[in-house]
Amino acid sequence: ATAQIGVTGLAVMGRNLARNLARNGFTVALHNRSPERTRSLVAEHGGEGTFVPSESMADFVASLERPRAVTVMVKAGAPTDAVIDELVPLLEEGDIVVDCGNAHFADTRRREEALRGHGLHFVGTGVSGGEEGALHGPSIMPGGSAESYRKLGPIFERIAAQVEGVPCCRHIGPDGAGHFVKMVHNGIEYADMQLIAEAYDLLRAGLSASPAEIAEIFREWNGGELESFLIEITADVLRHTDAATGRPFVDVVLDQAEQKGTGRWTVQSALDLGIPITGIAEATFARSLSGHADQRAAARRAFPDAGEKWQVDDRDTFVEDVRRALLASKIVAYAQGFDHIRAGSREYDWDIDLGGTATIWRGGCIIRARFLDRIREAYDTERDLPTLLVAPWFADRVGAGVPAWRRVVADAARAGVPTPAFSSSLAYFDALRAERLPAALIQGLRDNFGAHTYHRVDREGSFHTLWAGDRSEVEA
Ligand code: 6PG
Repeated sequence: ATAQIGVTGLAVMGRNLARNLARNGFTVALHNRSPERTRSLVAEHGGEGTFVPSESMADFVASLERPRAVTVMVKAGAPTDAVIDELVPLLEEGDIVVDCGNAHFADTRRREEALRGHGLHFVGTGVSGGEEGALHGPSIMPGGSAESYRKLGPIFERIAAQVEGVPCCRHIGPDGAGHFVKMVHNGIEYADMQLIAEAYDLLRAGLSASPAEIAEIFREWNGGELESFLIEITADVLRHTDAATGRPFVDVVLDQAEQKGTGRWTVQSALDLGIPITGIAEATFARSLSGHADQRAAARRAFPDAGEKWQVDDRDTFVEDVRRALLASKIVAYAQGFDHIRAGSREYDWDIDLGGTATIWRGGCIIRARFLDRIREAYDTERDLPTLLVAPWFADRVGAGVPAWRRVVADAARAGVPTPAFSSSLAYFDALRAERLPAALIQGLRDNFGAHTYHRVDREGSFHTLWAGDRSEVEA
């Protein structure tokens, strides 16, 4: 047995991860259900490092040093369970199974418990960065036992993206913590992309600008506080021309966004935990809405566009307004995402370090952004920060952006440009900072129709008004 780590499942992500490991000097055992993939990987990239290919799962397991570390890179769901079932009888106490797919954290918790019963470690690991990241340095979010991280840490920290010499990998917490954090990462990715898309839509409508002109605006924004991978590739996609038609690429793509499910899981989990991740939820629903082609066609017929053109008065002011509104809304999305991680950590006893999470998102992952350094600082300075919105750097940006944010959302509403994520982020901000919320009336209604009781502002205890009787108040 010579290999330090194995990879089974050699589709593009598994293949690139295996190459990354080999390029960093690790001896990598390889396995794939159909051996052609294993052979082609060795034939095309064998020179990049030391690979130990096997055709059978038994030979693959036997080629690994103990404790064995087996990385599973297959589709989430039933295919992952099938590979685990095949592996377990071949492994020995103390061996480690790493699942690098986008698994649901509840599945990871179940698998971790089951494998623990066999004396094995199961490490659900979030990996972000797409194909390129897997090859050149992803952001890696391993869950599982601290003991398993003693073996995996040095390997994963070596192959992860590095920012200022710090690896974009750290042990997130036990059992499903890694996959939970990756799930929320994807939720933030949904919100980030929806906000970018709304900004693009606003600029296009308000300025009657072409996609190429808007690409230039995003390119400029990428030189400032908004600097991030997603803003950078937005400029790239907007600049692209379709070869077949000569039209802007965005104009030949069907306007129906798809999803594989991580955004939906994020929203479902936030509902369970009672965390209002409104921006992420709007972004997820905006994708669903875009796919309801029949309803959209019916509504277009019923409410045709009046054809009035929206033209902003001053181009530069508008562009700067949209930039500020985008930054403020983006801060809300991250604030909500980090609240969600904190709630998950409490619920499942994971003890997740929020500053540490921001640290490993600075490079490698899809939501990598300059301001993650500020998030790290904010949570490192105040571990129990009530919300990211009040950390000084963020409070300054949000506070200074409020007038622009209101103008953009109001203009969009007047012009009929849908901005679900911009507007819901602003509503979230206004609700958080409101002196009094109309929730008091909701409590009154609940007490009226269902005797659900309420608390008073001036006295301890639960109360009920005898609505159908003499309307006196009784202590419940
Ligand atoms: C990443 C991405 C990656 C994948 C998403 C896409 O971090 O590298 O998030 O995991 O691109 O799963 O998700 P949707 O298909 O749901 O948009």
